[in-house]
Amino acid sequence: MTTTTAITWRELSFEASDRQVYAPRPASLLLAAKAVERVRPGERFLDACTGSGVVGIAVARYVAGAEVSVADVNPSALEAAHRNADANGVAIQVIFSDLYKAFPNDGFDVISVHPPAVPYPPGATWGLSEGMTLATDGGSDGSELVIRSIVEARSHLRPGGRLLLLLPHWSNVALARRTLEEHYVQVQELARLEVEFFPARDGVVDEPLLEHVRQLASNGTIEMTFETEVPLSVVSVIEATRPLEPQG
Ligand SMILES: C[S@@+](CC[C@H](N)C(=O)[O-])C[C@H]1O[C@@H](n2cnc3c(N)ncnc32)[C@H](O)[C@@H]1O
Repeated sequence: MTTTTAITWRELSFEASDRQVYAPRPASLLLAAKAVERVRPGERFLDACTGSGVVGIAVARYVAGAEVSVADVNPSALEAAHRNADANGVAIQVIFSDLYKAFPNDGFDVISVHPPAVPYPPGATWGLSEGMTLATDGGSDGSELVIRSIVEARSHLRPGGRLLLLLPHWSNVALARRTLEEHYVQVQELARLEVEFFPARDGVVDEPLLEHVRQLASNGTIEMTFETEVPLSVVSVIEATRPLEPQG
C-alpha cells in the first residue's frame, strides 16, 4: 500500500496517494531521466502507459520546446497526470488510448513506454487495487503488454524515430529482446537498476503466486533472486530505432 503522499524528483512533485494510480517508482524515475537526456529540443514525444504522467511531465519541463502527449487506459491515471502537469506548471496533451491507437501513424520522434509486466498466473491476482492490477498485469510470463508495446510502437514513430522501453526483467526478457531486434535497428541498453519485486511487498501474496515466479526464474524465463525478504530483479531502459526503410 502506498503511504507517502508525494514523490519529488529534481524540481518536480507527483501525487502518490491514489491507490488506483501507479505512483512513480525508481524504475519510472530512471526512464524519466533517460527520456530527458535522449529527447531533443522541439521533438514530438509520446509517453504511453503514463500512469502519473511522470515521464511526459519530466520531458515537458526539461526539454525545450518538446511537444508532449501522454496516454493511458486508466481514467484515474489520466486525472492524476492532468493534476500533476498543472501542479508542475507544464502543458501536455493527456489522451485516453490503448497503447498508441488514438495517435496517427508516423506521428512521433520518440515514444517512451513502461508497460505492465508482472507475471500473473492464470486466474490469480497479486492482491493489488484494480488500477494497480491494470498497471502490473502482464499475463502469464509478464510479456503480453511488453511485446505489444514494442511491435505497435514502430508504426507510430517516424522513420528513424526512437522507442524508449522500460523493460522489467521480471517479464520474459529474452522474448522482448528478440522482438526488439526483429522490428528495430540500433537496439541498446541505456541504463539498468536493481529493484524490489514490489507486488510481493505491496500485494496480498500467497505461496502459489511466489511459486509461479520462482518457477519462471528457475527455467530462465525471468530474472529474479530470492535471497532477500522481498525478491529482487532488474529494470533496463532500452533505446531502439525505427529503420529508415520500410520493412521487407
Ligand atoms: C507500470 S505502470 C507505468 C506508469 C508510469 N509510466 C511510470 O513509469 O510510473 C503501467 C501503466 O500502463 C497503463 N496501462 C495498462 N494497460 C494499458 C494499455 N493497454 N494501454 C495504455 N495504458 C495501459 C496502466 O494503467 C498504468 O498506468
